[in-house]
Amino acid sequence: MRNAALISLLPCLATLATAHPRPSHDIRSVRKSLNFGPKHEHATFQVVAAAHDEGLTKRGFTDELDAQIAARQFLDRQVGAEGESYYIRKDSYTDARTGVTHIYAKQLIDGLEVSDGDINLNIDRYGNIISWGNSFHPGTKAQTSPSGETCAMMNDQLDAYRSEAGENAWGLVKSAAQVLLPSLGRHHHTVDPRIQANIQHVSHHIEALCDQPQKEVLTPVDALIALLPRISASSSSSVDFADDLVATPEHSFAPKPAPAEPPTQIISGSGLAKAGIKSHVPARLMYTQVTDGAPRSVWKLEVELESNWYEAYVDVQTGELLRIVDWAKDYSWTSDGPAPSKEHKQKPLPAPPKKLEPYTYQVFPWGINDPTSGNLSIVTKPWDTTASPAGWHEFPSASNPWAGSKIPGMNTTGNTTHFYTTAGNNVIAHEDWEGQNNYLLNYRPINESLTFVYDYGEPDGLAPREYIDFVITQLFYTSNMYHDLTYRLGFDELAGNFQAHNFGKGGNGGDPVIANAQDGSGMNNANFMTPPDGTSGRMRMYVWDTATPYRDGDIEAGIIIHELSHGLSTRLTGGPMNSGCLGFGEAGGMGEGWGDAIATLIRQIEEHKSFSNGTDVYSMGSWAANRELGIRHYKYSTDEAVNPSTYKILDKPAYWGVHAIGEVWAEMLFIMSQRLVEKYGFSSTLFPPIDTSIPNDYYVNTASVDAKGKPTPLVPKHGNTLALQLILDGMKLQPCRPSFFDARDAIIQADLMLTGGENACLIWKAFAERGLGIDAGIINKSPWGPGIRTDGFKIPSKVCKEHK
Ligand SMILES: *[C@@H]1O[C@H](CO)[C@@H](O)[C@H](O)[C@H]1NC(C)=O
Ligand SMILES: *[C@@H]1O[C@H](CO)[C@@H](O)[C@H](O)[C@H]1NC(C)=O
Ligand SMILES: *[C@@H]1O[C@H](CO)[C@@H](O)[C@H](O)[C@H]1NC(C)=O
Ligand SMILES: *[C@@H]1O[C@H](CO)[C@@H](O)[C@H](O)[C@H]1NC(C)=O
Ligand SMILES: *[C@@H]1O[C@H](CO)[C@@H](O)[C@H](O)[C@H]1NC(C)=O
Repeated sequence: MRNAALISLLPCLATLATAHPRPSHDIRSVRKSLNFGPKHEHATFQVVAAAHDEGLTKRGFTDELDAQIAARQFLDRQVGAEGESYYIRKDSYTDARTGVTHIYAKQLIDGLEVSDGDINLNIDRYGNIISWGNSFHPGTKAQTSPSGETCAMMNDQLDAYRSEAGENAWGLVKSAAQVLLPSLGRHHHTVDPRIQANIQHVSHHIEALCDQPQKEVLTPVDALIALLPRISASSSSSVDFADDLVATPEHSFAPKPAPAEPPTQIISGSGLAKAGIKSHVPARLMYTQVTDGAPRSVWKLEVELESNWYEAYVDVQTGELLRIVDWAKDYSWTSDGPAPSKEHKQKPLPAPPKKLEPYTYQVFPWGINDPTSGNLSIVTKPWDTTASPAGWHEFPSASNPWAGSKIPGMNTTGNTTHFYTTAGNNVIAHEDWEGQNNYLLNYRPINESLTFVYDYGEPDGLAPREYIDFVITQLFYTSNMYHDLTYRLGFDELAGNFQAHNFGKGGNGGDPVIANAQDGSGMNNANFMTPPDGTSGRMRMYVWDTATPYRDGDIEAGIIIHELSHGLSTRLTGGPMNSGCLGFGEAGGMGEGWGDAIATLIRQIEEHKSFSNGTDVYSMGSWAANRELGIRHYKYSTDEAVNPSTYKILDKPAYWGVHAIGEVWAEMLFIMSQRLVEKYGFSSTLFPPIDTSIPNDYYVNTASVDAKGKPTPLVPKHGNTLALQLILDGMKLQPCRPSFFDARDAIIQADLMLTGGENACLIWKAFAERGLGIDAGIINKSPWGPGIRTDGFKIPSKVCKEHK
């Protein structure tokens, strides 16, 4: 009952958050996006305080494998046996920069995964558990009877497996047992895995269960039909397209390596397109938690629409939508007020023409936020050779995700595929005037001598379409620079970054960012969609009708950076393969906040003034929106008169949307970075040097190993570079669906890992400045934002004594 009420309330809240009056000329597209789920009141994120001193000496820790062993021992003690109560996800990894191992585990009940039963376990480079987040459901689940269809399928599979002799048999039985049978798993895990007699054992259970009276269970197709009215833009009747939809189990002959991967069913049929669905819909049976009571059996459906890509959890018996996260996130306004006219007419001067080398681009260079804050310039081979060893336009032909297509400007002759256009290993950029999902054959500038020097026409009064070549070049450049910078700070292949080819360094390749310039599906906004690692992220950048001529969001770096940061934070939080951790509420809000905070740190490279209180003031989107204030309630500043946000402000109804929540988080991060700059000074580049083994002005130390043979983390020397590093490291440590408290604690722990905790006092003080001190609190917390918060301005008494 509670859930029904929750679900009916949420769409209203979504409207509330975006329904403020606007200046009359401002026709913003309001993309429909559903995000909700239950409270997880039992969820915790615990920092294991004493860990730091107990080192290698204690346990003889040697390598990554040992971290896995330590994790298994810990989890077996905490939550029960591996394979029965949890499994460790394959996207767990050891961070080469910090040596911290991030282990991701999913809860199992009766052999099935619990969609929101997540553990993230962080282990330092000496094998100590340093922190862990846990949202496992604390109870066990009542049994559910399988459907007749399920029974038939199980029996078919068993017949097939009976004929398989030898070693494979147990694996096959196990995967049969896991196919669809919630109540079987409990028993089959207790039997000896090696004996063939288990086939008999499993089949007895199937008989026993399948003889019980059947409850109706929705097929995956039924579940999709039940879901469609909630998510589809059109209100067309589901009857039209349901006819030819079929769900086919994806069979794999060999048992899958992870214990809990029941075969995915793939829903296909021409009806999908009629319903506006852009690709096959994978469906998997699992459990999901609800606010009260036992977890419920659901079909997890992944549904790609034109402007959304949902992971949705539909009750297998009632068809009720219990939890949903949209992998697409917007840029979006949160502030109101008149739009002062700020017609910008000074033409930014292009650099004088000269002989151009290959890989040359005319752009607003990195650090320039928009055309009012700097001039165009010509840059050559701007990439970071560590982050992009093959540059921005090439990759091995064997890794070409577009091998079958005739992309104009793509040369596939030979073992290396070359692009004489704005495409390559990290990004493929083009116009998308139609606003559709197709992109391979969309227009891009092509130049066989690889010089992308095009005029920016806005100061001449041209409409954005008339200087599309420049726009796409700028989008390609900014997106690649962002890839390279975040790569150097640890968003690499293992951490789930976006690349076609991963150079054998782990993680899933095949997922460069699809960057749509001047996307026709909206106005005055932007959005980014982040599927799990191995599937491309997609960015839609829009034109803004806030001035004459119209302005193009692709020219405002802060908007691109905000969007790309959704990809960063989504892949780093809860692991590369879990895109559902920053859906809504405080977690979703911080998902917005990181984008603003990182965009601000990057523009500060060009615009910083000094570091005393309030001197540095930055807005978001002020050029594109043609409003001095920008699109948030306040500008970012340490001065309370400019930005008075505190933790408690989140209780206000105007802060019940993720963007407003994000503003408060971004303000806290801005204060932290400014306080670090006051202490450590300012670096005029955010990029580390290529050779980190020789002394440099970026890090305080050089690449080396410690007494125990472990690589020592490189510590940025300056306040702004340190802040950015801590922000990324914190994302990796924090749990799935983090609260403000969790994310703060993760940053403080990131500093412990990086510097031994030198800045604990400073960071606590920075958060406490805006009410996120040790005595901050929240009661009556709802999953989507509201609650009753108390600002806390205190810091733990110990930290400031230990470290000055
Ligand atoms: C742009 O270039 C002009 C001419 O060189 C210069 O006067 C102006 O200061 C530059 N603007 C910025 C923001 O650098
Ligand atoms: C494509 O690449 C091949 C091999 O590198 C080269 O011989 C050929 O000239 C290239 N074609 C174009 C159109 O650049
Ligand atoms: C291209 O790849 C093939 C197969 O791996 C190899 O035999 C050949 O030497 C490669 N050619 C070049 C030019 O590297
Ligand atoms: C490629 O760029 C060069 C240098 O800017 C220019 O001379 C040439 O005309 C361009 N080629 C095409 C096909 O646009
Ligand atoms: C900045 O302002 C805050 C609050 O007004 C104050 O506590 C802090 O000491 C100031 N810092 C500097 C460096 O002036």
